[in-house]
Amino acid sequence: MIFIPSKNLKPDMTVARDIWGKNSSFPLIRAGNKLSQKLIDSFVTRGIVGAYIEFEGSEDIEVNELLPMEAKVRVTGEIKRIFQSLQNEKGRSYQNMDALNHVKDYLVEVVSDIDDCVMNMIEIKNYNEYAYVHSMQVAFTCVLIGKELKFSNALLKELAIAGLLHDLGKTSIPHNILEKEGPLTEAEFELIKQHPDLGLSKLSSNRNLSKLVLDGIVQHHERVDGTGYPNNLSGDKISEFAKIIAIADVYDALTTDRSFRHAWDAHKTIEYMISCADSHFDVYYLNAFLAVAAAYPIGILVRLNIGLNAVVIGSNKGLPLNPIIRILTKGESFGKVINLASDRDALTIQITDTIKDEKSLMEILRK
Ligand SMILES: [Fe+2]
Repeated sequence: MIFIPSKNLKPDMTVARDIWGKNSSFPLIRAGNKLSQKLIDSFVTRGIVGAYIEFEGSEDIEVNELLPMEAKVRVTGEIKRIFQSLQNEKGRSYQNMDALNHVKDYLVEVVSDIDDCVMNMIEIKNYNEYAYVHSMQVAFTCVLIGKELKFSNALLKELAIAGLLHDLGKTSIPHNILEKEGPLTEAEFELIKQHPDLGLSKLSSNRNLSKLVLDGIVQHHERVDGTGYPNNLSGDKISEFAKIIAIADVYDALTTDRSFRHAWDAHKTIEYMISCADSHFDVYYLNAFLAVAAAYPIGILVRLNIGLNAVVIGSNKGLPLNPIIRILTKGESFGKVINLASDRDALTIQITDTIKDEKSLMEILRK
């Protein structure tokens, strides 16, 4: 299978993965079915970034979905209920803890059960309710980073709770400010900067939450160089959980379509995050994230600096910018597999971008 952006999809292409709509409990189209123009048009208006499609010669390319979409929809619904009840009851309800425990146990179980936890699939985030989906994605990414750092399961579960609740304080901030399309006024930004403290005050009376969790929540916007908020903490003054949440938070926020900004590609986001090492992020935790992140997920089409097009077919753990690729440009190199991390004769070959223009895509898709 290969990944094609929505604007380049054509009727009669066969989808290789179910495609889900916003807030739906069933897919818009199941894997194995052909697309229609009407459905493709609806993807664009629904904010669906693209689809995995079947492509002759790419049958062997499989993407490993760490958290199936059905589970994401269910978990997101549970997170919504947790947020709403914590908002009403100021975090004192034991029922809330039951729901929270269930979600965190599930996330940690999923990650514990798999050996090769690399985020190798393009996340098609066609959801409406950003706050809840973001909380799930951040918690899940935190657990992946924690597993990479060999955290115990008990610690991973604490980390999952911190990830799930890190932005709870935003429920006290008006929606029109959180989703404002234009630039924020100084007063609005000051209000947003209160959300870590607001989250802490909502949860600090809950005796079931540990200091690790509460520190992770209140410090998740601190930066290692001391330029973050709310307390301008720096270096070792920032807790381990907060440093991990900061990384997962920025990655998910930048790779998601928002009312005020289009989603960035994974590779652009990862390059940006590497440029923030030692200023925004702690390098030790950033390296653990880079080990589980894929800048060029499997199935994505890329252009090389040697003028050829290729498809990503595998990843090298810890080297997210150097995946394994297969040449798709017709000619003598067609079908050649190159490991951009280790093949000696490929040392000068680099990916310059992902392929989005119609002409290059059609060249590849033409049989
Ligand atoms: Fe936040």
